[in-house]
Amino acid sequence: MRCSVCHFYSRRCSLNMVAGKKQRIQSLVPNFQNPSNLLALQKLLNTPMKFFIDTANLNEIKEAYNLGVLDGVTTNPSLMAKEGIAGPEKVKAHYKAICNIVDNNVSAEVIATDFDNIIAEGKELAKIDDKIVVKVPMIKDGVKAIKKFSSEGIRTNCTLVFTSGQALLAAKAGASYVSPFIGRLDDISQDGLELIAQIRLIYNNYGYQTEILAASIRHTMHLIKCAEIGSDVVTCPLKVITDLLNHPLTDSGLAKFLADHKKVNG
Ligand code: E4P
Repeated sequence: MRCSVCHFYSRRCSLNMVAGKKQRIQSLVPNFQNPSNLLALQKLLNTPMKFFIDTANLNEIKEAYNLGVLDGVTTNPSLMAKEGIAGPEKVKAHYKAICNIVDNNVSAEVIATDFDNIIAEGKELAKIDDKIVVKVPMIKDGVKAIKKFSSEGIRTNCTLVFTSGQALLAAKAGASYVSPFIGRLDDISQDGLELIAQIRLIYNNYGYQTEILAASIRHTMHLIKCAEIGSDVVTCPLKVITDLLNHPLTDSGLAKFLADHKKVNG
C-alpha cells in the first residue's frame, strides 16, 4: 500500500524511516550516560547529508569545494587512470594533493584482493593523511580486512555493493561507509534507489553506524531521491551537483528582476 503523505510503498515510506529513527532514539535515551549511546544519539539527531564528489580531477574537486558544499571525495582505480596517475609514488602524491584541497573524507581504493595485501596497501594509504578512508571491495578478504581496519581505528568505505545482504555484511564488519552503486543497478534494469531504501531500513532496525554512501549517481533525481530516503552521503560527478542550481524559472525570474531594476535605475 502507498503512503498518502510521501507516496512511496511502505519500505520506502519516509514516515516509516522517521519512525525507525524515533524508535532508535527512544532506545538510546534511557542510557545516554553511556558514551557510545550519547555518540549514537548525537549522530541520529544532528547529521546533515554529506556531498562527496566522485572524481580524481583536482580542478573539479577545487570547483566543488569552492562552491562551499563539499564534504569529501571518492576515487576509484578507473577515475585515477582517467587522470593518468600511475605508479605508487604518483598515486600517493595525488591522494595527498586531494587531501590538501578538502577538509575530510578522501576515499582511496586498494588494488590488492587478498587479505594480507589489502591490509598492507590500506595501511600505506591511511598513512598519507588522516583524511584518507580506505576503500575496499565487497569480497571475502575485503570484509575480513574491513573488520581488521575497524578494530585498528582505520576508516573504511566498502565499495561495489549491489545487494542489501552485502551492505549488512559490511556494517557487521564495521565499515565506516558502504557504497551501493545505484546507476549501475539501473543500467541492468534493477531499482538502485530501492536498494538504498532497503539498506536504510536494515541499518535503522539495528542502529548500525555505517553510513550509506549512495554511489554511481547519474542525475539530480537520483540525488534528491537519496535525500528523501535518508542516505547519509551521495557521491556524484561535479555536473550533478551544479545541475542542482538550475531551473528555467530561476533564469527568467532573475532576468526580469534585473530588467525592471534597469528601467528605473538606468
Ligand atoms: C563509487 O565510489 C564509485 O567511484 C562510483 O560512484 C562509480 O560510478 P560509475 O558507475 O559512474 O562508474
